[in-house]
Amino acid sequence: MQGLTVAPRRGAAHAAEAAASASSRQDAAVSLRHVVREFRLRGGSFLSREETRISAVADVSFDIPRGTTFGLVGESGCGKSTLSRIVAALDRPNDGAVEIAGEDLFALGKRALRKRRRNVHLMFQDPTASMDPRFRVNEVLREPLMIQKDGAPRDWTRRILELMEQVGLPPSMYDRYPHELSGGQRQRLAMARALALNPAVIVADEPVSALDVSIQAQILNLMRDLQRDKGLTYLFVSHDLSVVRYMADTIGVMYLGKLVEVGPAEEVYTRPRHPYTRALIDAVPKAEADSKKAYTISGDLPSAANPPSGCRFRTRCPLAQDICAREVPQLDRQEGAQRVACHFPLDAPQTDATEPEPATHVH
Ligand SMILES: Nc1ncnc2c1ncn2[C@@H]1O[C@H](COP(=O)(O)OP(=O)(O)OP(=O)(O)O)[C@@H](O)[C@H]1O
Ligand code: SF4
Ligand SMILES: [Mg+2]
Repeated sequence: MQGLTVAPRRGAAHAAEAAASASSRQDAAVSLRHVVREFRLRGGSFLSREETRISAVADVSFDIPRGTTFGLVGESGCGKSTLSRIVAALDRPNDGAVEIAGEDLFALGKRALRKRRRNVHLMFQDPTASMDPRFRVNEVLREPLMIQKDGAPRDWTRRILELMEQVGLPPSMYDRYPHELSGGQRQRLAMARALALNPAVIVADEPVSALDVSIQAQILNLMRDLQRDKGLTYLFVSHDLSVVRYMADTIGVMYLGKLVEVGPAEEVYTRPRHPYTRALIDAVPKAEADSKKAYTISGDLPSAANPPSGCRFRTRCPLAQDICAREVPQLDRQEGAQRVACHFPLDAPQTDATEPEPATHVH
């Protein structure tokens, strides 16, 4: 991505360590186990009883160790937002479990679930979607303090100004409306609101996708600084692999509702083992001509209403063989290391990862 110096987040050793500790559920701030989400739609005409099942998330498991970032990447429609909403307890899975700090969210009663929801905050691409347009900046920030009963009301003005300072909003913005702020300032306000709610986990669904690249870098750096200072845990969602690489300790690659590869960010980026991950990386334009043969995939993502049998990627995979249509590949069981769901995973180092990267798309 232009405007960002893409460097290993905290070094490969840290990432490997982070992924290793991910295997320990005790250390996990977030733990997903076999999460399934299907949407059932009544198709055809008004009177039709035919039901279409959309397989948006299909048996996804991963852990996010406390204080680290899990970057979820994949093309449009692969299920990233559906999974984000489930982790933020704004939607229920049809099957599987989501644990926040060891507590199974969907085993809780309604009232307890409502309370626990505050531990996870969802940040959107358009932050104003979650703000009342009649509220000024100070009111947007006052509301969570009132909900949290955070200190005495007479201290709230000082607390609001502190929050604004933490995210780099000048005091002159105190009485502005969100629509009077720039896109970057609105995302800063969203971050301040998240901090006021004091969550353990922030789910950020494409938080910088609508921003100019130079502003993207500022917001990503702010998120990293706040994570370091406050020990926050992030589930960071983007279709842009270079942004995910910049932010994440661990990368999870999703394809049509399935996690196809997961592991320490630098290892996944420099030595992808799944053909889809490799194609995503090869689609990132490089500053220099790359003499290595690039993997490209053609065609659109198949419909989640009718996913291919066996490996869901097989209709676009250059390596597909007969077994790929028959057997669903499972993530291999190398605890704490790079894991891949493929019958014929790639082995050798494949890419040069030293260049700053522009946006990713799949052909
Ligand atoms: N409420 C819903 N009802 C029916 N289908 C849905 C619903 N929400 C999502 N889907 C379907 O589930 C699949 C996953 O959608 P989702 O929004 O999670 O993808 P995404 O990875 O976030 O895509 P994008 O990058 O475009 O935001 C898609 O096929 C989508 O059409
Ligand atoms: S399992 Fe087969 S079709 Fe799927 S990614 Fe691997 S080689 Fe390709
Ligand atoms: Mg989405």
